[in-house]
Amino acid sequence: MAGPAAPSVPSSRWRVAPPWPLPALLSWGASWAALRLLLLRGWPMGGALVVAALIGVLLSLWGKSWWRKAVIAAGFPVSFALSLPMLGLGDMPAWVWLLPLVLMLLVYPVNTWADAPLFPTPAKALRPLPGLAPLVPGARVLDAGCGLGHGLLALRQAYPQAQFYGLEWSATLRWLCALRLPWAHIRRGDIWLADWSGYDLVYLFQRPESMPRAVAKAAKELRPGAWMVSLDFEAAQLVPTASYTASNGKMVWMYQTPFVFARS
Ligand SMILES: C[S@@+](CC[C@H](N)C(=O)[O-])C[C@H]1O[C@@H](n2cnc3c(N)ncnc32)[C@H](O)[C@@H]1O
Repeated sequence: MAGPAAPSVPSSRWRVAPPWPLPALLSWGASWAALRLLLLRGWPMGGALVVAALIGVLLSLWGKSWWRKAVIAAGFPVSFALSLPMLGLGDMPAWVWLLPLVLMLLVYPVNTWADAPLFPTPAKALRPLPGLAPLVPGARVLDAGCGLGHGLLALRQAYPQAQFYGLEWSATLRWLCALRLPWAHIRRGDIWLADWSGYDLVYLFQRPESMPRAVAKAAKELRPGAWMVSLDFEAAQLVPTASYTASNGKMVWMYQTPFVFARS
């Protein structure tokens, strides 16, 4: 597609992780350092605790599996609660014990567990898209379940002249994504309840189990000529318009409406 050069885009910050258990130790240390710094600056204990614990939640993205993420995020609040008597704060409220759970829920609200947890789109995975699924300048592109915005960054590299929209269930991720990508319209919402009819391309990086639901929704709502693009997970009931293997080995599947259904 002709047009201005693609804006330079920062690469993923979460892909480089030190070996385990360094991420956990560094995250806990960062939370404790933040707590100490904020208290020294005169912050109230409650506020300083929440900020320190949120740092742990953000750094939990370093964890490569669920249990590692949980260990990173829960480490600071648990160690804080255990050290209350030593800190002479034995009368801290009982909710301190709930902090790890609440913080995990903030990042991965329960209803997204049925769909996809946070795995970012690799930075270069969508580069071949424009040659296979061309869009006109100004086209509207939705990342359904945009997480921290890695998919949108990769899409913007592919289609520098498009308009970008992100929908994310987690309020924390939505907020962080909007902060990282001021050029995109990021909303909090459920991708299954949203209307997809206004988009020229809907990008999904969800789960294999989500694909039949995505096909049904896209077939009903997308305009003729619009695209559904899925990273890693094929829509088995459709014949893909095109597909390719990205440099990291993940498949990218493209389906243009009206869909062609595969014979069973
Ligand atoms: C695998 S991540 C992909 C993130 C981003 N699209 C990317 O490619 O970098 C899936 C994201 O979808 C979000 N998600 C899952 N189910 C959702 C739903 N029903 N509505 C909105 N967001 C959802 C998750 O919170 C998570 O951030």
